[in-house]
This record gives sequence, structure tokens and C-alpha cells, in this order.
Amino acid sequence: MEINQQKQSEFEKYKLEVIESVNTVQERIRKEKEHRDYVDFGSYLSVKLQKEVEEVVRESLGTQDVEEIELSVPPSHISGDFAIEVFRLAKKLDEKPNILAKKIVDGINEHRMDLIKDASLVGAFVNVETHKEKLYQEILSKILELGERYGESNINAGKVAIIDYSAPNIAKPIGVGHLRSTIIGQALANIYRETGYSVIRDNHLGDWGTQFGSLIYAYKEWGDEKRIAENPLVELKDLYVKFHQFSEEHPEVKDNARELFARLEKKDPELVALWKRFRDLSLEDFERVYKKLGIEFDLSIGESYFTEQADKLVDECTGKGLCRKDESSEAVIVDQMGDLPSFLLRKQDGSSLYLSRDLATLQFRVNTFDSDSILYVVGSEQELNFKQLFELGRRADYLPEGVEAKHIGFGMILRDGKKMSTRKGTLIELEDLISQSVSKSKEILLAKSPNTDPQELDKVAEIVGVGAIIYNDLRQSRTKNISFDWDKMLDLEGGSAVYLQYSYVRINSIMEKLKEAFGEIDLGKLEMNDISFVNKSEFELAKKLMAFPDVIAKAQETDSPNYICGYLEELASLFNSFYNETSILRTEDVKLRESRIALIKGVSMVIKKGLSMMSIKVPEKM
Ligand code: ARG
Repeated sequence: MEINQQKQSEFEKYKLEVIESVNTVQERIRKEKEHRDYVDFGSYLSVKLQKEVEEVVRESLGTQDVEEIELSVPPSHISGDFAIEVFRLAKKLDEKPNILAKKIVDGINEHRMDLIKDASLVGAFVNVETHKEKLYQEILSKILELGERYGESNINAGKVAIIDYSAPNIAKPIGVGHLRSTIIGQALANIYRETGYSVIRDNHLGDWGTQFGSLIYAYKEWGDEKRIAENPLVELKDLYVKFHQFSEEHPEVKDNARELFARLEKKDPELVALWKRFRDLSLEDFERVYKKLGIEFDLSIGESYFTEQADKLVDECTGKGLCRKDESSEAVIVDQMGDLPSFLLRKQDGSSLYLSRDLATLQFRVNTFDSDSILYVVGSEQELNFKQLFELGRRADYLPEGVEAKHIGFGMILRDGKKMSTRKGTLIELEDLISQSVSKSKEILLAKSPNTDPQELDKVAEIVGVGAIIYNDLRQSRTKNISFDWDKMLDLEGGSAVYLQYSYVRINSIMEKLKEAFGEIDLGKLEMNDISFVNKSEFELAKKLMAFPDVIAKAQETDSPNYICGYLEELASLFNSFYNETSILRTEDVKLRESRIALIKGVSMVIKKGLSMMSIKVPEKM
């Protein structure tokens, strides 16, 4: 009995740890809401420019539908700094596009404006000329003023987002299947934060469920302590795989596993102790991988924490008539809701389920953190599961109207055209993948600069290798299936993290040379009026820099980090064309030279920040 109590309390101890981590987060959010200082989105030049256009449209057309107006950067063969696209508005107002465009052009040309000089009509496009000098000066001085904070905003100030990502299953090695969730989730957490959200990064560990019954069964049957001590996760995975192979021929062991899980649910002390041990061993392993990838969480609660509350909620929902006990068994069923098929909410043996634990988690998140948005970054194959969860949550009032819950789905990772699965044991472990990427990066770096110091080389190869894996995922559209194409992932010419890292390093070395030639340069002394440019390529580059805050906002709004990737690649390529035609070292005019230094400094800051939003590092040299 005494032993029982001691082991029982092991679960209680774990719950106390969770409560403590929750308190820390609550405290941080409270402070952030009171004291965080934001950059006003309205202070960015692109926003001011958009406003100016909207005002003219409002006046000259007498319409309030000004948001339909969109400014874009025209292709290079068209003159004009920006173009206004009127098709959407024309459709809405039921007017001919060219007539509408003409009115806008006249409106612009009749007004004296701060940023816009004049407009001209090309077909149904309005081409806009700006006061280039002023625009250029404002863009650069804003970047110099904000430094590394350039790009962040207050669009979502005061809001709280919980982002549920990674969520690997305990007692299996973390695999490529959870890789996408980890990478996308972490990027979204960073991007959300940039737009003003207070973000809670929650690793909803798969630390409960029938798989523990299987694992405990396998451990009792075939477990070898010595081997577990040597290589815990591989051994646990092997046990897990062995169970599944064995159960194909001996299906009756599945009942044994279910029974064991039911005993675990009742917190049988012996089984709780095993569970806790497997959990701790797994967490240690995950931590090592997270560290390599630069992944961090505020909470790692996991499903186990919610089993008891899940039970209560199932009763409550039954009381509310949202689900019912099956007549022939003790199982609890949710009948078809709208076009969502019926599903199980409690097992026949009384055990909780993935979905009922998620229901309790949802209620907890809403109540504990006063959250505005909850994001579930989980593979698209779970789409139905989340539709059912959210619908039941709404009906049961655990998910109030003001709180948005979103399933952020994504495609699979394919290998030789096939999905990978842990159960069959074909999963390449994530660590292997990382090592593979790092050693390939090393080869490429070495080929490019054979004389690199070996220690330096290892450091950079690690940064490049990890960056390649992360970037390969984020640059592609989230919902597509992805695969690993090393040539593309490590392409120095573009479309890869290493291309951006090289551009960053290139700017660094230009800065070094400038320092050697002209001494330390204090850009803080550069007055707004001193900033100037000569070439079109400089202006184009500044215009690109201007768009960064909008790109972050768009990536947040659409939960699509790939917008940032596309943007950074364009920025780097504009930088390269600028740099191929302009020598800063040989720029005689001091003010112009310093303006150019400010420009490339801006580029390097934006590349670094953009990559860091994806948790990709930049080497200082390579
Ligand atoms: N552990 C789950 C899996 O591997 C993912 C959990 C995602 N989060 C959630 N709240 N359901 O499938």
C-alpha cells in the first residue's frame, strides 16, 4: 500500500510540474500585455503609401471600398514605381476598369500628395510615380531607426495565440513525420510574435494512449534492461515494432495491450512507473534533437495531463445530449453532426481517446490563457479529427465564439514516392537526416573554399545543414507533399537557405573591406536629408526592403511562412544585381557611399531576421 501511494504520487508530482510551468506562462503573458512596446504598423512607409492612394480613391470615386485597391510593383519593363490594380474594385462597383482607372489617374494628378508625384494610365493599369528621393530616404532611415526590430508591428497587439506543434509520440524516436509540424509550428510562432501576438508554444506530447499498452506488453515480454540502458529510444522503438509484427500473427495480444492501457488509465502504480520512465527517456532524446534544430517550447504538457478532465467532459457532454452511451457496450458515441461522421468519445472499457483528451485540452487552453487563437499544426490527414473536435467544442461551449481554432495542415514527407511510417520501422530517424544534411553541406563548403579551418568548417556546416532542412520545408507551399532533393536544398545559386546565408556573409565581408578602407562607419550620424541614390537598382532594392513588414503580416494572416522565403530570395537576388553594377568602395561621394552602406546593411539585417523567423542561423563567415 505504501509503495502504491508513493508511485501514485509520481503522477501527482508530474501534475504539479505542469501547473508550475503554466503559472510561469500566465505571468509572462500578463506582463507582456501590460508592458510590451510595439512598433506601430502605420508608421511603415508602405502603409502610408497605401493610405495615400486610398484617400485619393475615396475622394475621386466617392466610394468607401478602398481596401479593394492594391499597390504592386510592376515588372521591370514598365515604367512607374508602383502600379494600382483596379479590376477587383471595378467588378465590385460594376464599372469599366479603364474608366475607373482614368478617374483615379485624374484624381491623383489633381491632388498634391506627400509621397506620390503623379500617375499615368496604361490600359486598365494606373502607374504611379513617387517622390523617389523622399521615399528612399524614409525607407532607409526607418530601417536605421529600428535596426533588428524592422518588420515587426502591432497589428495583433494584445492578442494571445497558442501554437500546438511538434507533438511527437512518446516511446518512439522522433521521426521525419513530426519534423514538418516542428518546423512550421516554430516558424509560425515567430511570425505571429512579430505581428504583435503574445505566443504560447505548446508541445502537446503524445504521452498517452493504447500505444503504451502495446509498449508495456512488449517490454514485459521481450524487454532487455541492459539494451534499454544503452540506447533507450532505439530499444523502445524496436519493442514497439516487434509488438506490431507479433500481433499480426497473434491478434489476441492486442487485447492484452488494451487491457494494460485500461489499467494505466486507472493509474495502476506499477504501470504509471513504467510510463513515467518511458516518458522521461523519450523527452531526453527529443530535447537533443530540438536543440540541434533551435526549437523551444513554453509548455510541454502532453495528453496524459488531460485524461481525468476528459472523462468529466464526456459525462458533461452526455448530460448535454451531445453524445450518448451505446446500448450494447459502455462506449460513448457522438452522432453525426451536420456532415461530420459519427465518432467515438469514450472506449468500451472506459478509456479516454485522442479526441476526448483533445477536448479537455481545448477547454483548458481557452480558460487558462484567455487565448484568441489556437493553432494546431498537424498533418492534413487529421483534418476530419479537428473538424469534429472544433464542432463538438463549439456545441459544448468549450470553444466560445470569440476564440478561433485553426487546424494548420500540411502534406507528407515522401521518400521514394511513399509515405514513411514508424510502425513498419521504415522511418529514418531525424538525427540521421540532420547528420546527412550536415555532411553534405560540409562537402559543398569544402569544394567552394578548400582552405577553411576544420573547426570553422564544422561549425558552418552544422548551421548550413540544419538550415537546409528547415528551409526546404518552409519555402514550399504548406499543404503540398515534400521530399528531400539535396541538390536543390543546397543550391548555392538560389532557392535555398545557403544561398541566403551566402548573401548575408557576402555583405559582411563587404562591410569588413569598407571598414579597412574608411574606418569604423557610424550610420547613426547619417541624416535623413543626406541619404541619396543614383541607380535604378538601388531604388528597387529599397522598395523591396519597404515591403518586409507587409510580407510578415501576410505570412501571419495566411499562416504561410513560404511568403517570407520567396521574399528573401527576391531581395537577395536584387542585392546581387545591385552589387554587380555598383562598387561601394569606389564611391567617392561620402554621403552617397554611406547611403549605400546603409542600404546593404538593411539588406543584411532583413535577411538575418527573415531567416531567424524560421529559426535558421547565419554564419558570420563562410
Ligand atoms: N501526437 C499526435 C500525433 O502524432 C499529434 C498531436 C497534435 N496536437 C493535438 N492537440 N492533437 O498524431
